[in-house]
Amino acid sequence: MKNNLSIIKKAKNLLNKDECVAIPTETVYGLAGNAYSDKATLKIFKLKKRTKKNPLIVHYNSLQMLKNDCFINIEFSKIYKKFCPGPITFILKLKKDSKISKNVTNNKKTLAVRFPKHPITNKLLKLLKYPLAAPSANISTKVSPVSKDDVKDEFGKKVKLIINGGRSKIGLESTIINLVSKKKILRLGGMERSKINRYFKKNIKYSSSNKNITVPGQSSLHYSPGIPIKLNATKAKANEAFILVKKRKKTLKNYFYLSKTKNLKQAGRNLYKTLRLIKKKNYKKICVEKIPNIGFGEVINDRLERASIK
Ligand code: TXA
Ligand code: MG
Repeated sequence: MKNNLSIIKKAKNLLNKDECVAIPTETVYGLAGNAYSDKATLKIFKLKKRTKKNPLIVHYNSLQMLKNDCFINIEFSKIYKKFCPGPITFILKLKKDSKISKNVTNNKKTLAVRFPKHPITNKLLKLLKYPLAAPSANISTKVSPVSKDDVKDEFGKKVKLIINGGRSKIGLESTIINLVSKKKILRLGGMERSKINRYFKKNIKYSSSNKNITVPGQSSLHYSPGIPIKLNATKAKANEAFILVKKRKKTLKNYFYLSKTKNLKQAGRNLYKTLRLIKKKNYKKICVEKIPNIGFGEVINDRLERASIK
């Protein structure tokens, strides 16, 4: 922890100077900057080569700080108690007098907010006088990072500090739920849909398009390892990588297991690491066996479908 403290202080100093720092979270690593600063948030977009039309998620550590930026009612306080900190992002109504940089929201009247669960990042957030805007720490459209080395792969030395918080426990981005007007899931992710439905006592619809907001990250090519992907494959040639969710009796060099026992949570955790590894090994094509479309399987399929758009 002593070591962590000095890294956290270094991160704080950089962030206070409008620099970007990569932070660990339980979902994926984020590329963080002061959400109140135009300069810092602009740097995030530049580093990621991200279109400014795609708004950022802002990370908080206390409801108190969130109240400066968004309208909070009793219903939200209850949702917060149930799900936070955790792998879920809420779309809320932005307050007019909020200090959130316009770069973050692309001038929209809503804000995506999240309370991450990682001891180092939570400690850092506690020390700051502002929340952190943080998209996934990858070049736009590429695979999200789940470790310090992944972030290094993406940005090299362009990011001044990458905090090492170990491997992300969930390994998939947060679930995004719109709480403005009719409740809707905008992105499947680390918080199981079943848990959300149970809490609200109804099926919350999932739709990645929203008539008021275009969410480029949700619809076009995304999460891409830069190699063609074939889904629902039953076999692969020797020079193609074959991704499987359950260990085979006879295994080959080009077989990559997401899990040994068809454990879909574990498979989700291993997905992005596996895609990165396959790319590093220079395979020119990826075949993926059919993955059950339930629980985390649904999220894995969503990511693979987007990654396979040509
Ligand atoms: O797990 C996560 O959510 C990670 C970690 C770092 O927190 N962050 C992440 O951020 O995945 P990013 O930028 O890669 O994805 C954020 C998504 C984008 O697709 C964006 O379009 C959507 O959130 N978003 C942001 N603000 C929004 C808003 N006001 N309404 C609808 N969607 C929004
Ligand atoms: Mg992303």
